[in-house]
Amino acid sequence: MKIIAGNWKMNGSAVALREMQDALSKIDTENRVILCVPFTLIAGAHGVAAIGAQDVSVHDHGAFTGEVSAQMLADAGAKYVIVGHSERRMYHGETNDVVREKAQMALTHGITPIICVGETMDERDAGKTMEIIESGVRESVPVDGGDVIVAYEPRWAIGAGITPTDDEIAAAHTLIAETLAKMGRGGTPILYGASVKGGNAAKLMSIPHVDGVLVGGASLKSDDFIPIIMATK
Ligand code: PGA
Repeated sequence: MKIIAGNWKMNGSAVALREMQDALSKIDTENRVILCVPFTLIAGAHGVAAIGAQDVSVHDHGAFTGEVSAQMLADAGAKYVIVGHSERRMYHGETNDVVREKAQMALTHGITPIICVGETMDERDAGKTMEIIESGVRESVPVDGGDVIVAYEPRWAIGAGITPTDDEIAAAHTLIAETLAKMGRGGTPILYGASVKGGNAAKLMSIPHVDGVLVGGASLKSDDFIPIIMATK
């Protein structure tokens, strides 16, 4: 069983979500399929894929115009939330500390956080990939609370049509697994994300410690998403 999570980012519509759920209901898979959709689509979502959000407030409730709390997400039916996606880190200045607080909020309200870590191109060029990944996990993942999912997303490869080598992915995921084990979170699922598509999904998911994938662009259309799910049944 693998975890196949789609991140729709700021894309999609109620009609598109209904079409996707309909297409997903026709396939036979043991994999856990999650769709992380814009806030507006969560409450109306019905179907086989579990629904997740793409961000959550660090606050519980109150005067925070525009924010959405973990309790509201749970109320709307979200079971998962992506926290610390590179676009949140890049455009909203989210640090590992903020990401950990968001993950903690999700856990408090029974939502599983999908916590993203990964290096930028500059960090990669400076030879800091492993350091960034390790500190990302240590500082972004809460030490207690319920189960979490971690996603390794090399930031330079997102939406770029390129991926690290299999050996690089294996090294990153092994480091993440070891770091999580030291934190008492051994066995946490670790997803790979960045430029996953039907053509590379099976190979990516055969790499040690790759327990599934987090898919951006190729999760928007069922013709692209279903081959990823079926790459490993
Ligand atoms: P991509 O995005 O699959 O379009 O590269 C991945 C992500 O941002 O989660």
